[in-house]
Amino acid sequence: MKDLGFTHRFVPAATPGQGGRTLLLLHGTGGDESDLLDLGRALDPAAALLSPRGQVLERGASRFFRRLAEGVFDEADVTARAHELAAFIEAAAVPYEIQVEHVMAVGYSNGANIAAAMMLLGIAPFRRAILFRAMVPLSNPPATASPAAQVLISEGRFDPIAQPENGQRLEELLRQTGANVDLIFQSSGHQLTENDVAAAQQWIVSIA
Ligand code: MLT
Repeated sequence: MKDLGFTHRFVPAATPGQGGRTLLLLHGTGGDESDLLDLGRALDPAAALLSPRGQVLERGASRFFRRLAEGVFDEADVTARAHELAAFIEAAAVPYEIQVEHVMAVGYSNGANIAAAMMLLGIAPFRRAILFRAMVPLSNPPATASPAAQVLISEGRFDPIAQPENGQRLEELLRQTGANVDLIFQSSGHQLTENDVAAAQQWIVSIA
């Protein structure tokens, strides 16, 4: 569906009602709005799912912001795109009857990076986020405060792209905003594993 500024999919909760969670699914480079639907269902079978497609095309691969090279981000574009995506989430909340305070972002790689950027900029319309294979999207973010935020960062110990120090630096930056951050490492590379999913399921239960 193309409206509200982003091509996206929305899957309503099985039993819609007050206080229901919506997972905001943010795919990795080359993914699309369908990529993480199964992951979302595995993480919370009862949640509604909102899944936008990144608007940047890099040689045909969709992304959420421009990069200059692998791991080298166009930070002006990161900031502009983070604002666009935050506006999309606020706009989508109206027709889909999403309660923004119950949105949890779930991002993988490039999708985790745009979620982290929204949090570091203090414009995230969500307070909870699961960031798989995240990097540091803004080298020198402004001082912002999100004291109620809760974040799980799940990295791969042998990830050649989002190398472990990325997780540590991102944890530190998010903590500086007052967020509560859990950083975990899997015995894996950049790909998601069953252990990531199991750890995220447990984390969701632990913060409920
Ligand atoms: C990716 O391939 O998606 C990168 O490693 C992360 C990014 O560019 O944001």
